[in-house]
Amino acid sequence: MVYGASGHTGRFVVDELLRRGLTPVLAGRSAERLAAVTPQHAALDLCVVGVDDPDLLRRAIAGAGAVVNCAGPFLDTAVPLARAAVEVGAHYLDVTAEQPVVTRLYRELDGPAREAGVVVLPAMAFYGGLADLLVTAALDGDPRADEVEVAIGLDRWWPTDGTRATGARNTATRQVIRDGVLAPLADPAPTGTWSYPEPFGEQPVVQLPFSEVITIDRHLDVGELRSYLNTAPLDDLRDAATPAPSAADERGRSTQQFVVDVVVRRGCDIRRVSSAGRDIYAVTAPIVVEGAVRLLDGRHHGPGALAPGEAFDAGDVLAALGRDIDVAAPLR
Ligand SMILES: NC(=O)c1ccc[n+]([C@@H]2O[C@H](COP(=O)([O-])OP(=O)(O)OC[C@H]3O[C@@H](n4cnc5c(N)ncnc54)[C@H](OP(=O)(O)O)[C@@H]3O)[C@@H](O)[C@H]2O)c1
Repeated sequence: MVYGASGHTGRFVVDELLRRGLTPVLAGRSAERLAAVTPQHAALDLCVVGVDDPDLLRRAIAGAGAVVNCAGPFLDTAVPLARAAVEVGAHYLDVTAEQPVVTRLYRELDGPAREAGVVVLPAMAFYGGLADLLVTAALDGDPRADEVEVAIGLDRWWPTDGTRATGARNTATRQVIRDGVLAPLADPAPTGTWSYPEPFGEQPVVQLPFSEVITIDRHLDVGELRSYLNTAPLDDLRDAATPAPSAADERGRSTQQFVVDVVVRRGCDIRRVSSAGRDIYAVTAPIVVEGAVRLLDGRHHGPGALAPGEAFDAGDVLAALGRDIDVAAPLR
């Protein structure tokens, strides 16, 4: 089941599930907006249900193997959907970048998920899960790192309505890892420069941690974790006139380019992994669908509420994403 199937990201997820040979039920709160998705997918079942009635939600999800939640702000949708999924024995995945959502899912649903024998997997997406997988792969089986840096570079950011609503709703102080524990990001957020691979090159950045901080803290033993974003796309985001993304290829992807650099240090051992691709919304679909496929076919750890690199073999997942994400081999 894809909840929020009417949204920009939800549509990419539906297409990717179909490409992978799965048959999603399209779910969401609005019959009208769901119906607008279906001309291309007229054979798929629709399910209209809000997140505020647990009984209806349980009945809607019953029979699904997994729920992929694409309806954000996730502060409003994640806990009721994940709880209902666990209660009927379905796996739950979402694409949240919001730190407090991941914290709550880990705190409230780890025990119930273990008892039910299912996995709750928040942040299986561009923001959050991709950095978690890259860091896990760079550490190569050892959970310890003295220092981890994650630097995301975007050439542009055309935000969706969901991104704008989520930014407005998610006002909690962001967290980093300092001295081995979660701690508030300094105010004002520290700035600097980062040397991205070409064509990005050296750019001004600001510390802007997303859900990867909470997922990494879940399963890795990290002394310091700092996450950066280049400042140019933040200007796009702050400008109310910046349009939503528009399709520029046959898959519906925009021309937006991204790079995600990860540097991990353990003593004198420094490893850097760079990844690159196109359209942060579109690329979220293969990431979360790869997770759903592995939860359904048994290639996962658990049960429980887990981080992506904890649930799966991170290197194997990244290799499977090769159609959409170029990952440069670790450079020492
Ligand atoms: N972590 C990442 O890298 C990543 C990547 C992509 C997206 N996201 C996040 O995913 C979310 C969706 O993004 P989008 O680009 O798909 O936005 P969008 O096109 O605006 O779609 C939002 C979707 O969420 C649904 N929705 C919102 N609030 C809801 C609620 N309270 N109850 C039920 N449904 C609700 C909407 O339903 P209606 O059509 O009925 O309004 C719609 O289906 C945002 O939070 C975005 O930040 C994160």
